[in-house]
Order: sequence, then structure tokens, then C-alpha cells
Amino acid sequence: MAVECLQKRCCLAKGRGFMGRFKPGFALAALACFFWCIIAFIYNFSLVPVSHPRTWFNQTKLYNLMSGKKRHLTNKQTIETSSTEKKPSASIITEAISTHRYVAHPSNYHFTLDEPDKCKQDPFLVLMVPVAPHDVAARDAIRSTWGNESSVQGKAVLTLFLVGLSGGAEAQQQLEEESRQHRDLLQSDFVDSYFNLTIKTMVIMDWLATRCPQATYAMKVDSDMYINPENLMSLLLSPNTPRENYITGYLMLDQPVVRDKSSKWYVPEELYPESRYPTYVLGMGYVFSNDIPFKIVRASKSIKPFNIEDAYVGACLKWMGLNPSDAPDPSQFQTYVKDSKSTDLSKIITAIAGSSEKVIEFWQNVNRRK
Ligand SMILES: *[C@@H]1O[C@H](CO)[C@@H](O)[C@H](O)[C@H]1NC(C)=O
Ligand SMILES: *[C@@H]1O[C@H](CO)[C@@H](O)[C@H](O)[C@H]1NC(C)=O
Ligand SMILES: *[C@@H]1O[C@H](CO)[C@@H](O)[C@H](O)[C@H]1NC(C)=O
Ligand SMILES: *[C@@H]1O[C@H](CO)[C@@H](O)[C@H](O)[C@H]1NC(C)=O
Repeated sequence: MAVECLQKRCCLAKGRGFMGRFKPGFALAALACFFWCIIAFIYNFSLVPVSHPRTWFNQTKLYNLMSGKKRHLTNKQTIETSSTEKKPSASIITEAISTHRYVAHPSNYHFTLDEPDKCKQDPFLVLMVPVAPHDVAARDAIRSTWGNESSVQGKAVLTLFLVGLSGGAEAQQQLEEESRQHRDLLQSDFVDSYFNLTIKTMVIMDWLATRCPQATYAMKVDSDMYINPENLMSLLLSPNTPRENYITGYLMLDQPVVRDKSSKWYVPEELYPESRYPTYVLGMGYVFSNDIPFKIVRASKSIKPFNIEDAYVGACLKWMGLNPSDAPDPSQFQTYVKDSKSTDLSKIITAIAGSSEKVIEFWQNVNRRK
């Protein structure tokens, strides 16, 4: 092929001819050959990768790897069908590949329910709650507890819920009705699933960066969490709390990447090759200065996405050269509490309640004591 002729050896041979005979025709040919070499070289090393900018890894290889996982987990009959199947529906293979393709670009998603004017109230703090579309109970529990606090220590607070696609016309209608009633729902057009939590988080970051840049702080908080807005506000209003490049919560240090294929935290080496994660903040509830969302969305263009949303945010932070901060009192960011009576919830910022009933119970326990 033509490319063969463009190899360096061909070029050198013609070059030697040029040195010996000084024929103008040869000089021209040698010059042309030289430029062809350069063009071929550039094409080979630069243009090819650039023409597939999103191919960070060999998708066929990943497909095979993930089929291998399926083989490992299921019986022989599914193997035979799955190995010939071109489009395995809702399997981990498509999940991984679509997450890989889409998650880094939250702006490729569109808000099907939006509240673009919410931030005209200039909130100081925005609480962003990812929640399953059908989980009205969780939203109502939050609306009647910490989500109903629109002003804390004189600072405006906004609580919004983010859902993905509901997967049904009737469910969608109900969501739209709920949205009209409460005006606190955001919906983006990705398939809502556990595997897609990274997309959900990135869409939250995208919303904050594009619809609410004027807020000072934001928090990503799961829908089964108890939070104490008073204590959170005290932390944010402390003169020692930075208003830029700040993120805090329950720090996860030097966590190993789960390679056990039966775990829900399994991440294939193709998606994340290192054996440990950089320091990250546990996804249940982390607080950040509101310059962070834009920077994370930007970083996500360079960081290959994987399905552990909080560790992925950690990888983006590492790329930005930013370390999560220890909370001034790390014991304020609790995970599980045995029961709401043994832990003094009036002193903490977060605790996993685990259900909407518990969110209400925890809230009432604290507010009864006041
Ligand atoms: C193109 O790249 C391959 C390896 O990536 C190399 O073997 C080959 O020699 C290169 N061709 C040219 C013309 O540079
Ligand atoms: C991707 O991996 C598959 C299977 O390992 C291999 O057959 C194929 O050649 C690879 N493609 C590229 C572009 O490396
Ligand atoms: C929110 O709080 C107000 C009082 O500040 C109260 O009237 C209202 O009923 C509460 N909303 C919910 C859903 O509990
Ligand atoms: C994740 O979302 C993408 C985009 O909507 C979708 O194509 C993919 O199937 C989803 N994955 C899962 C496991 O739901």
C-alpha cells in the first residue's frame, strides 16, 4: 500500500540518491517524500486517536471481559445465547459501555423536568438529592423534615430532587403532577439505575454549574439520610471554612478497588486500572463549595468514567489536584447509627437513617428535644 512506501526507509533511500546525483527531479521527489513521511507520521500518531476521541479503551475487549463475567455468574445455557447475542439487553455489558460513553458528558443529557428559575432566590446552600423516580415516600419524608428548611441561620437553603427516566407513561405523568405541586423535581433523560449513579451525580454537578452558579455551597445527599441543617450551616458559616476548592464529608482513605465480580461495587480493570482509589468523600452526603461542580464536569471529560459515583468524584478531584478536607469535627459525619437514641443526633451533620420512616423518626427525636 501507499503507506508502505511512506516508511522512513523508503524516504532515506531516496535521500541518499538525492545526495549522490543532485538531479532537480530527484530533489523534488525526495522533498515530496520527506513531507509525505511527516504527514504519515502525524496521521499515524495523532489523527487516528483524535478521530476516536471517546475510545479510551477497546470496547470489544471490554465486551468479551463482561461476557466472561456473565459466563462466570450464570449457567451454560445463558452463555450460549449471550455469546451470540449482539445486543444483550440491560446486561452489565451494555451498562458498562453506555456508562463509559455517556457519563463523562452530562451536558449530553437533557432535563425533562427542570427548575431553571429556582436559583433566582440566590440560595446560600443547595441540597441535591438523587432519588429513584418511584420513591415518592422518600421525597415526602424529606419535604416534611430537613427539606422543608428554606432558611437556616438567616441563609436561604434550597432542596431539589434529581431523578432519571421513570420508564412508563403513567409513572411519568405522576412525576409531572408531583413536580407541578412541589416545584422541586429535576429529571434528566438517562435510564435511572444503580449502575448509572455516576451519571446521576454528574448531572447534579451539571445542574449546579449551569443553573445555580450563584449558590455558595451545595451538598449531594442521599434520599435515606438524616441531616441536621443547623449544624451543617454552622460548619459552612465558620470563618475557617473555605468558600472555594472545598469539599468535605466522611473521608474514604486509600480504599481498595473491588475486583470481586459478584459485588455490587465491582469495577473492571478496564474501567479503573489502579488497585486503590484516591481519597474521596463517601457518597451518602458530601458538602462542597459551589465552584466545584463546574470543575468536576470539566475534569470528567478527561477521566474515564466508572460506576462508583463517589470514588469517581474522587478521581476527578485528584485530577484537579484537590484533596477533600477533613471536617473540623469528623464525628459529625456519621454513617450508620445503631439507634437514634444512643447517638446524639443534635450534634451531628449526617447519619444514614435507611428508610423514610427513620428519616422522620430521627428528625422528630431531635426536634422534640429542642
Ligand atoms: C505507525 O505506528 C506503528 C505503531 O503504532 C508503527 O509500527 C509504524 O511504524 C508507524 N508507521 C509510520 C509510518 O510511522
Ligand atoms: C480489541 O480487542 C479485540 C479482542 O481482544 C481484538 O480482536 C481487536 O483487534 C481489538 N481492537 C483494537 C482496535 O485493538
Ligand atoms: C414546612 O414548614 C412549614 C412551617 O415552616 C409548615 O407550615 C409546612 O406544613 C411544612 N411542610 C411540610 C411538607 O411539612
Ligand atoms: C445508563 O444510562 C444510559 C443512558 O440512558 C442507558 O443507555 C443505559 O442502559 C443505562 N444503564 C443501565 C444499567 O441502566
